[in-house]
Amino acid sequence: VESMSLLPSGAGKISQLNAVVLGESIASEENDLVFPSKEFSSQALVSSPQQYMEMHKRSMEDPAGFWGDIASEFYWKQKWGDQVVSENLDVRKGPIQIEWFKGGITNICYNCLDRNVEAGLGDKTAMYWEGNERDVDASLTYSELLQQVCQLANYLKDVGVKKGDAVVIYLPMLVELPIAMLACARIGAVHSVVFAGFSADSLAQRIIDCKPKLILTCNAVKRGPKTINLKAIVDAALDISSKDGVSVDICLTYDNSSATTREDTKWQNGRDVWWQDVVPKYPTSCEVEWVDAEDPLFLLYTSGSTGKPKGVLHTTGGYMVYTATTFKYAFDYKPTDVYWCTADCGWITGHSYVTYGPMLNGATVVVFEGTPNYPDSGRCWEIVDKYKISIFYTAPTLVRSLMRDDDKFVTNHSRKSLRVLGSVGEPINPSAWRWFFNLVGDSRCPISDTWWQTETGGFMITPLPGAWPQKPGSATFPFFGVQPVIVDEKGNEIEGECSGYLCVKGSWPGAFRTLFGDHERYETTYFKPFAGYYFSGDGCSRDKDGYYWLTGRVDDVINVSGHRIGTAEVESALASHPQCAEAAVVGVEHEVKGQGIYAFVTLVEGVPYSEELRKSLIIMVRNQIGAFAAPDRVHWAPGLPKTRSGKIMRRILRKIASRQLEELGDISTLADPSVVDQLIALADV
Ligand code: WTA
Repeated sequence: VESMSLLPSGAGKISQLNAVVLGESIASEENDLVFPSKEFSSQALVSSPQQYMEMHKRSMEDPAGFWGDIASEFYWKQKWGDQVVSENLDVRKGPIQIEWFKGGITNICYNCLDRNVEAGLGDKTAMYWEGNERDVDASLTYSELLQQVCQLANYLKDVGVKKGDAVVIYLPMLVELPIAMLACARIGAVHSVVFAGFSADSLAQRIIDCKPKLILTCNAVKRGPKTINLKAIVDAALDISSKDGVSVDICLTYDNSSATTREDTKWQNGRDVWWQDVVPKYPTSCEVEWVDAEDPLFLLYTSGSTGKPKGVLHTTGGYMVYTATTFKYAFDYKPTDVYWCTADCGWITGHSYVTYGPMLNGATVVVFEGTPNYPDSGRCWEIVDKYKISIFYTAPTLVRSLMRDDDKFVTNHSRKSLRVLGSVGEPINPSAWRWFFNLVGDSRCPISDTWWQTETGGFMITPLPGAWPQKPGSATFPFFGVQPVIVDEKGNEIEGECSGYLCVKGSWPGAFRTLFGDHERYETTYFKPFAGYYFSGDGCSRDKDGYYWLTGRVDDVINVSGHRIGTAEVESALASHPQCAEAAVVGVEHEVKGQGIYAFVTLVEGVPYSEELRKSLIIMVRNQIGAFAAPDRVHWAPGLPKTRSGKIMRRILRKIASRQLEELGDISTLADPSVVDQLIALADV
């Protein structure tokens, strides 16, 4: 852990919040506080700071009672044992172990679908699907969704997929993606969704790690004007994995006729099966596989600061209770809401807040296949009006990219249905917050800026929209049951107004339980840096009113358009280029993406740097990881700044990348300080 940024400007200068808590009114302008309207608060699930504080207090003092009560609202075939939670979070006391509702027998698919149908929601729309093109759409009621899930579940069982087996899903945002997740959950299979923007190499790496019985994909998809042949990527990935000894027996392929034809799809008889040829033949009801609360639900690979992607493992019971509860409170969910989360199911946001959290609440969810600026920058607001969306959840990068276009793309649409806005993935800068709030939400809709991670399963620090006044750019306060702490370099907790490393004390139901096949790495990465705590990898400050301000990663993970990318992964892709000797990658500020990827490369002796080489280096990264990880800048480096022991000093590279040359700091500890001047001289080559 090297360096971290400090308090964002604006934080800390706000005072008198205690006065607000006590009910005195203070002018919001003076204090940078944005209050929910009286009308909103009075109808909110949590409508005042006091109510929040009481609930939070109970969740901390009596987690078993607090979470046990909520869990009882779901269906359990058998209630959990004596303890709601049992945990060891201190590496000094033995292996890290977290269990919630152990002994409870349930099924998350049953709770998402059957339970809602039985409660009378069978005819309620579960999903509106909006295709890439304007006039292509579909919808499914809860009953219809249940039937489709059952058909697929029956097929999976029939071909031998059993409880505990892994299934890889490589699908774009078609309704078949959540259907596939739910079908796996129904039969106790462990899904691992791979974002359909990952390359064949990345997909293969994940297949090799989790050895799925079956892979689900589609032949092609259109994103904006482009057609992407996903099946060809799967074919290539399966070639790579079989060379590594991992072969997958079945590739169930959905025929997405809006993007391509069957004739144009390469086919391997015996392995490849058309979804439409088999799945609809199966019965529309399917027995549920009842599982233990601690049985695995899914694996989702995410980037770390070193080495290959980690398989984050979530289990059933705690994740179910946690995603449902966070969804309900952070968005102040009402049964009449229509909810749209723009995230792809390939990321954790799409797991917890496209599929599980909303469906557990019986919500109506919009699933969008396309991109937000196709055919033009007004598409999102057009969709909002079309479906009368009331909760709109997105990423700051989307806000910033739309902000650059004319306001009329927003104001041409009514947006009257909107009630709550949400943000996730990276810190939202106050100017983007204000544009989102003032223009998109007509200064009427609170913004839930939700801080959380793949590892946390659900929201950790988030506004409850009717409870607190907001501060643009702050994720505000911890969710129920969450106790964030800020620690210094030595791992000492710091109280009050401060900044440092964000950790969490105690566990919460949605916490991940291990890294698949590597519990040691789980402990080393998350529980050893600051013994006794879960370490998030993020920097954070707390202002004098107790508001939390996330300041970005403090490790070697960068966040590009909300996509988490390990610098080590990009470096290893670059270094595998035959003409690249060494690479060092850092994040730099980027106007739209939040962070951009800046790569320093050292070439093999005698190889000249050229435009062609630059392009082929970038192609290397696109092929090995995916287009979203392509470096924004490649900086030719005859030498890299290293300490005498050979460690690359990234601090210096970050300063050079961001052209903060007056802030290079002490370079005397470098083995060869002259490389710094050389790098500066080559900055614009
Ligand atoms: C960042 C995405 C500030 C953070 C849900 C975290 C955020 C990483 C926010 C996790 C937010 C996510 N404010 N930073 N509201 N939300 N982050 O695993 O750096 O893809 O560690 O999960 O995104 O990314 P992941």
